[in-house]
Amino acid sequence: MTELEYFLKPAKLTELKRIFKPAKRVNNCVVALREVVLHAREIEKTGKEVLKLNIGDPNKFDFDTPPHIRKALREAVESRYNFYAPAEGLPEFKEAVARREKKVNNVEIDPEKIVATSGVSEGIIFVVSALLNPGEEILVPGPTYSPYEAFTRYMDGIPIPYSCDEENAWQPEIDDLRKKITEKTKALLIINPNNPTGALYDKKTMKKMIDIAGEYNLLVLSDEIYDLIVYEEQRTSTASLSKDVPVLGLNGFSKVYLAPGWRMAYIYLHDPPDLMGEIWEGILKVARARLSACTPLQKACVAACDGPHDFVQEMVSKLRKRRDYTTKRLNEIEGISCVEPRGAFYAFPHIHDLKGAKTDKEFVLKILKEKQVLFVHGSGFGKKYGKNHFRTVFLPPIEILEEAFNRLEEFMQSR
Ligand SMILES: Cc1ncc(COP(=O)(O)O)c(C=O)c1O
Repeated sequence: MTELEYFLKPAKLTELKRIFKPAKRVNNCVVALREVVLHAREIEKTGKEVLKLNIGDPNKFDFDTPPHIRKALREAVESRYNFYAPAEGLPEFKEAVARREKKVNNVEIDPEKIVATSGVSEGIIFVVSALLNPGEEILVPGPTYSPYEAFTRYMDGIPIPYSCDEENAWQPEIDDLRKKITEKTKALLIINPNNPTGALYDKKTMKKMIDIAGEYNLLVLSDEIYDLIVYEEQRTSTASLSKDVPVLGLNGFSKVYLAPGWRMAYIYLHDPPDLMGEIWEGILKVARARLSACTPLQKACVAACDGPHDFVQEMVSKLRKRRDYTTKRLNEIEGISCVEPRGAFYAFPHIHDLKGAKTDKEFVLKILKEKQVLFVHGSGFGKKYGKNHFRTVFLPPIEILEEAFNRLEEFMQSR
């Protein structure tokens, strides 16, 4: 008998357990990349060290927030930037973001059409909650960064994946996208460069997607959090290509500026036809309800926007070597193939031989248990389009990648 059972009658305890159930909506809020960590913790409890290639956090490896940005944060705190910021963001933050978007992405954004958020993650919640009525749909890439699906379902909306073609460097399949549009579709999500596939979309494909959005009166949601992390081709931002289709951009400081723990990001609206006033007001209402994003961090991000950007080149050249190594090693392993990523820091290899596992999740968990390497199962990024894949980051130094892929290779050869 537990201590609690000693004090409460079993019938009472059963009744209380029945009453204290979470709301059903939380069942819809599942994000694979965080869930697998729980399995890794169990392994770690047994004293074994796990090589974690599951999370897109550069600062867990040999990358750090640039000194001028860290200094700006210390100065902000010392200059009493510790008050509540306006709900939509500090004016100087919004102006700096507008300058950055002009410089980096060649888009003119009115600072009044920018909202500071605590991570793009909060931005996703704002956008989805201001946009969707129950039963309404958002087109998301298949596979996709899973919080877009999780939060859409959480808000009683329906994420509809459109196919991205692995054979064609994971470019979106325009015909499939068109077929998935219904009278309930409200928006089309583009993540470029893409997580989990590492795809970088070509200009022609981007234009076609924007045109389709225009044809069917859809709002374009454009996640550009990896905008400067590209390896070969020049990237084109969605808003810079859109003349008359409204674009809600989501971007932030977690990846390019190497400050994921700061949780700083922004939403902007690029709306030449001026159609989105009410939805923008809806986003502002949600922003006001949560008071504000962190004030000193907003102030420090002004330095990130306006300061030197040469650290980005250093980061990208380091990552390019790790990307090359990752693609080569994965393609050498029998039973696995991997499309070369062109942006971000993820590879999304295909598992052709699950080695007796029934699903990609079981495959990934077996590798974790037997070889202590943590990847994320592909179906966690979309049941259909992520199936029989896994996602790895290529953020760690080559020695760690080498050890991880050696262990993966041993696993594949051992059965
Ligand atoms: C495509 C994409 N959007 C958003 C996020 C989350 O960003 P933030 O740290 O700003 O919440 C990530 C994190 O991995 C991501 O890959």
